[in-house]
Amino acid sequence: MTRLFTLSLTSLGSKVVVALTGLGFAGFVVFHMLGNLQVFQGADALNTYAAFLRELPILLWSARLGLLLIVVVHIGLTIRLALHNRRARPVPYAVHEYRKASWASRTMAFTGIALLLFLLFHLLHFTGGVVDSSFSDRLDFRGHRDVYGNVVHAFQNPWYVIVYLAAQAVLGLHLSHGVSSSLQTLGLEHPLLNRLFRAAGPAVAGIVVAGNVAIILAIALGVLRA
Ligand code: HEM
Repeated sequence: MTRLFTLSLTSLGSKVVVALTGLGFAGFVVFHMLGNLQVFQGADALNTYAAFLRELPILLWSARLGLLLIVVVHIGLTIRLALHNRRARPVPYAVHEYRKASWASRTMAFTGIALLLFLLFHLLHFTGGVVDSSFSDRLDFRGHRDVYGNVVHAFQNPWYVIVYLAAQAVLGLHLSHGVSSSLQTLGLEHPLLNRLFRAAGPAVAGIVVAGNVAIILAIALGVLRA
């Protein structure tokens, strides 16, 4: 355990832990999007699924604490690595070599911060009911929390549609570069694997964003109603 901790403090160890926590977060986002797609099966399906996830408090709180740990460690070690790199090269390059770096890779710090701000807003919105409390206490005919009603109510408001669509753009950019570069950090050096890893990021990002945007637009355009 102590060796594992010491290893995570080295530069290579930090990169590996950043990669693992990033992939863990990506896994959650995919799982969350797939679960949310049940909105297309109607209120009963989504509310029963949400109630099932909350049925076992130990499981729920382990998952929440695990996710919190992943996010804190990921951000903490990323900042540490950036400071370490700056200390190693205090004078910035006179000419930035941007030709090879993709737009997604150059905007990782910006998209990371924006994603964190969105996550805080999202938790205050849907989980905490602080941003809009009109649906947070409503129950459906089974006595389950009306998560479906809450989601539909949110995306009938154009301001939430804009915020959530903007968040999808940020999430897509962050996942697109993050997943590929995490797999490359963890993977073996092989041209075929490298090509696969480079394609995996945009693929995962595309699937998650497509699923989330489908939910937002289906409600905004009136395909799904309360
Ligand atoms: C259209 C996109 C999304 C929709 C409709 C959505 C919907 C929801 C809803 C309804 C909840 C509350 C669930 C409940 O109270 O039982 C929730 C919780 C949550 N969402 Fe999202 N979400 C979306 C995107 C995202 C994204 C992109 C992230 C991550 C960046 C995210 C992270 C979370 C987290 C961490 C929770 C807290 C889970 C918990 O209560 O333990 N969501 N989401």
